[in-house]
Amino acid sequence: MFALNFNKTVMHIFYEKVALIDHLKSIGTTNFKIGFVPTMGALHQGHLSLMQKSLLENDSTVVSIFVNPTQFNNKEDLDKYPRTLEDDIRKISTLSDQIILFAPTVDDIYEGSILSHPFDFDGLENQMEGKFRPGHFDGVGTIVKRLFEIVTPTNAYFGEKDFQQLQIVKKMVSKSSLKVNVIGCPIYRESNQLAMSSRNERLTANEREEAAVIYKTLALAKEKFETNSAKEVSEWVIKTFEKNEHFTLEYFQIADEATLLPCVRKTQNKKYRAFIAVFINNIRLIDTISLN
Ligand code: PAF
Repeated sequence: MFALNFNKTVMHIFYEKVALIDHLKSIGTTNFKIGFVPTMGALHQGHLSLMQKSLLENDSTVVSIFVNPTQFNNKEDLDKYPRTLEDDIRKISTLSDQIILFAPTVDDIYEGSILSHPFDFDGLENQMEGKFRPGHFDGVGTIVKRLFEIVTPTNAYFGEKDFQQLQIVKKMVSKSSLKVNVIGCPIYRESNQLAMSSRNERLTANEREEAAVIYKTLALAKEKFETNSAKEVSEWVIKTFEKNEHFTLEYFQIADEATLLPCVRKTQNKKYRAFIAVFINNIRLIDTISLN
């Protein structure tokens, strides 16, 4: 364990699970609430807001920073994923000196066998991200389950930008009978409404500005969905991106929030959500909006 001193705050940092587990045992008493924010680093305001919520609602907060190899279906994406540990530590230390940081190595987590466990998420894994990133959710399920077993959180916080991931983690928790409340938190947006993401780090200033079109399209799609079918709205979104020379649309889907199945005909009392994934210059960005 390391105690790091930044701007007079002292933060506990663990690089090995055994040391973290021992520390949590030493501070935990009956009814002690641990809040957990799992991340892959390159922290932004969205992550910090999850930490703030956890600090308010728990006795102790653990943040993990671990770029999980098994959830990347593309080696280039894994290699290029921003790794900014020092900067991340600095950002966390501006929030509180009470946060416990867990930044393990790949070997500490996977113990020589970098493989994911195959999960059955009742079909949630076959839509959208699951279709375009084969094996991605097995990797997410594997790492989140492993981290939950190490940290044993009472509450775990996830951003709604990755709404499909949030539903999958909830499913994994209920199917594995884990005792953790999975809490979804609102998307944090930049001033031009681009959803905050660690991948935004790779955009040029110009691309960042251009990327405002993603949320703008979602907001208009929401308006159109009031009077048009899901098919009509989807066709409009496809045309919008065909006309845009900077972006390539990977998918746009209007889906039932609970099952993530595409909306074929609108049904009363169902909650719908639009999901989008686009590429700009090989950088993949996703976003989502609730439609009703
Ligand atoms: O959303 C993320 O950053 C990752 O998928 C997570 C939940 C930390 C698992 O690696």
